[in-house]
Amino acid sequence: MTEIERLYLDLLKKSLSDSLRLDKPMFRIKDNVVLNVVNKILMTVNYSVIKVLFPKREDLIEGKMLPPTAESMIGFKRLDNIQYCIEEVVKNKIEGDILETGAWRGGATILMRAVLKVLNVTDKKVWVADSFEGLPKPSFEADMGDKYYLFKGLNVGLEEVKENFERYSMLDDQVVFLKGWFKDTLPVAPIDKLSILRLDGDMYESTMDGLNNMYHKLSIGGYCIVDDYGCVPACKTAIEEFRAKHEITDEIHKVDWTGVYWKKTK
Ligand SMILES: C[S@@+](CC[C@H](N)C(=O)[O-])C[C@H]1O[C@@H](n2cnc3c(N)ncnc32)[C@H](O)[C@@H]1O
Repeated sequence: MTEIERLYLDLLKKSLSDSLRLDKPMFRIKDNVVLNVVNKILMTVNYSVIKVLFPKREDLIEGKMLPPTAESMIGFKRLDNIQYCIEEVVKNKIEGDILETGAWRGGATILMRAVLKVLNVTDKKVWVADSFEGLPKPSFEADMGDKYYLFKGLNVGLEEVKENFERYSMLDDQVVFLKGWFKDTLPVAPIDKLSILRLDGDMYESTMDGLNNMYHKLSIGGYCIVDDYGCVPACKTAIEEFRAKHEITDEIHKVDWTGVYWKKTK
C-alpha cells in the first residue's frame, strides 16, 4: 500500500468514527414526545433544541459512546483492526468474502469495501447483514433483561445505510445487503466461503446465530472478530460456549476495551 493509500484509509477511519476533530463539541437533537413537537415548530425558523456533548478523546478513539452522526460507533481502534485483518487475508491469499453481522449505519462495512478497493481486490464481496430495524426482543435465557431492542438509536433503515455507502462512493456490486433477522437470513445466505466474519450483534442470540451459521464457512487463516466480547457479558458467553463446543483453542487477541479477534487455524 502506498503512503497516499494509507493516508486515505486513515482519513476514512477518522471520518467514519467522527474522530477527525477530537476536541469539537457534538450535538444531538433530543428525541422525545414533547421535544419532537417543540422542534417541529422551531425547525420552521431553523432553530432546534439540542443536547451539546463534549466527548472525551478516548471515547471516540475506543468507540465508547453512541456518536450522534458518525457512520460507525466502533471507534478508530476497531476500525483499524478491520483494515489489519483484511490486509492479512489478502496478503496470505485466504479465500472468501467478508461478512459483518450487525452493521447499524454501515460504517465498518464501508471501510471493508474501501480497503478492498485500495488493495484492488475484486473477488471478495462485503456482506452487510442487519435487520435494519434494530435488535430482536430477547428470547434466550442469556439475553433476558436486555433492553437494546427498545433503543431507537440502534434502528437504522436500509435506505439510510445505502445512502451512507453512496456518500463515500462505496456502493457497488461488491456490496450485498442481507436484510432481516440473522436467524432467518444467515441460514439461507448464498455465501460459500468467508475470510472474515465480524460479529457485532450485541446479544447472545445474535452472536450465536452468526457463529452457528457462518463459522464453518470461515477459511483456515481467516479471522473471526467479535465486537462486543468485553462490553456485553451475554456475547462473551456465546463465544465461550461455541469455542468450547467446537474445541476452538485459537488465541484470542484484544483490540481494545471490548473488541477481540482470533485467526482460525483448524
Ligand atoms: C452495535 S450495532 C453495529 C455497529 C456497527 N458495526 C458499526 O460499525 O457501528 C448492532 C446492530 O446489529 C443489528 N442486530 C443485532 N441483532 C440482530 C439480529 N438478531 N438480526 C438482525 N440484526 C441484528 C442491529 O439492528 C444493529 O444495527
